[in-house]
Amino acid sequence: MSKHKPENILVAVAWPYASADIHVGNLTGSYLPADIFARYHRLVGNNVLMVSGSDSHGTPVTVKSDAEGLTPYEVYQRYHADFLELFQQLGLTYDLFTSTHTQNHFKVAQSIFLALKENGYLYTEVQEQWYSESEGRFLPDRYVEGTCYVCGFERARGDQCDNCGTLLEAQQLIDPRSKNDGSTPVLRETEHYFFDLSKLQPAVVEFLKARQDYWRPNVVRRSLGWIEAEGLRGRPITRDLDWGIPVPVEGWKGKCLYVWFEAVIGYLSAAIEWARLTGENDAWHQWWIQPEAKAFYFIGKDNIDFHAIMWPAQLAGAGEAFGRIFEERDGEQLILPFDVPANEFMNMEDRKISGSANWGVWGLDFLSRYDPDPLRFYLTINMPESRDSNWDWDDFVRRNNDVLVANWGNLANRVLSFAYRNWDGHVPDPGELRPADQAVLKTVEDGFESVGELLEKVRLRAALLEAFRLASEVNKYLDEAAPWIQIKSDKDAAARTVYTALKAVDNLKVLFAPFLPHTSQRLHEYLGYEGALFGEQYTGTQKDNLGEHTVLGYKRGEGSGEWKPSQLAPGQALRQPEPLYRKLDPEIAEQERARLGQ
Ligand code: MF3
Ligand code: ZN
Repeated sequence: MSKHKPENILVAVAWPYASADIHVGNLTGSYLPADIFARYHRLVGNNVLMVSGSDSHGTPVTVKSDAEGLTPYEVYQRYHADFLELFQQLGLTYDLFTSTHTQNHFKVAQSIFLALKENGYLYTEVQEQWYSESEGRFLPDRYVEGTCYVCGFERARGDQCDNCGTLLEAQQLIDPRSKNDGSTPVLRETEHYFFDLSKLQPAVVEFLKARQDYWRPNVVRRSLGWIEAEGLRGRPITRDLDWGIPVPVEGWKGKCLYVWFEAVIGYLSAAIEWARLTGENDAWHQWWIQPEAKAFYFIGKDNIDFHAIMWPAQLAGAGEAFGRIFEERDGEQLILPFDVPANEFMNMEDRKISGSANWGVWGLDFLSRYDPDPLRFYLTINMPESRDSNWDWDDFVRRNNDVLVANWGNLANRVLSFAYRNWDGHVPDPGELRPADQAVLKTVEDGFESVGELLEKVRLRAALLEAFRLASEVNKYLDEAAPWIQIKSDKDAAARTVYTALKAVDNLKVLFAPFLPHTSQRLHEYLGYEGALFGEQYTGTQKDNLGEHTVLGYKRGEGSGEWKPSQLAPGQALRQPEPLYRKLDPEIAEQERARLGQ
């Protein structure tokens, strides 16, 4: 628990492709852990900036637009609107969720490119690229499928093998086929800009070594291990595509920046956009230039190379030149990632989640039938932090009923309704607390330390389990003291117990708030408080010369939640409580499984 001066925490969240619906694997992989982490740091009083947006360019979007007969712009707008809806319903509190299709992002991305160029980290090379004679155009890597030259998987995409995860050199695919029409492409020459990663290898290795002691072992292995085994080589960062950000160099018309190269720059451009929206243009410096700021990147394991190697290399390589090129001021070094707590994957009923096979649970669809906090609960308790996890519908029902409802929900509900009924809707006056009452309060208050420490280390699953352990302790205390029996002979004793339990529940409300913000807010109100634990989400529309773009934002406001022990006052008026969670019928598991693959 930090009691020192507030820290500046950048919560950088993976940018979803604006070409596919978001499923529970995406949510538990990066978007939800980011929100839990951001909410915790807000409660502690740190300066949080949580940013992301729709990854709107590149072939994932053009593949979809080809398939649906829409323009890429239309595809991006449709998915982007769904993302905003989902994030509001689930309570993912981005300070700004924007997109890569904004004028601001174009300018920031082009400035990073030019800074790398000025610093001598780019070179051009004529490259061979798969060309479709039947379509008369170069094929993006994703449009070519073939056999992976690393693991032999037969349906590897040109850009990455889904089997072994390697980022591939498309030209080296074995038995290439065009995904559009199955024809065999030919190699043809085209000129591209390359990012000279070999020159930046020493800087990247130094960056990784300085962090290897506290990073997750899988992330260190994947990045440092990979560099030590293979070494870094130059990679092309432009493409023959027209949907994307133009290469900002004379004579390069018709070519765009590679989508991965520019999408990661979104973490920076979104912070800049956020600053403009607040009216303080330089406010982004707090998270990007101030050397003590800490940036955490929430991503899935398939994104590790781009965040632990490429992006730090882009930032280190752009250096001070960025500030000069972007806003004609003396540039400072942009800060490098502090942590990249990448998650593994979540499977669905023991199989890989797949959009094309409709094998998955999609966020918006789920929320049309169930509440947001049970989803946040199940995705946290099953978060794939160190190994792949599995969504199992029977398990979902069981844990909802046995843990969320039986442990925490019932505790809050029975204490509140008993107090409300027997003390005329007010917090009873406890008189003097006994050692047993003080002991249970101390146990729960220690949670601000223990749960907080785990949250700070991004061990969210363990942090939530610790909060449940504390709730069990309070349940035990309540069962032993049995105020419903005490009240018959000794109302003062019952008042002491109920006051203690209410105060414990008030503390647990805060400990659970980063994970279960909706129900913690309701509980906050039942306990008689005014105001909100957190700020408010909002949406707004802006226009620039690329069209209209809608953003999701977060108003910090007077969020009254604080990461510190309850000061619940005797006599405080309560509000009529309702149960926080519903028990689910075990039959829904069968019904839900029947939807899979349909
Ligand atoms: N769109 C990518 C994905 O969903 C993630 C991009 S993260 C970014 O896998 F930072 F590069 F944008
Ligand atoms: Zn492979």
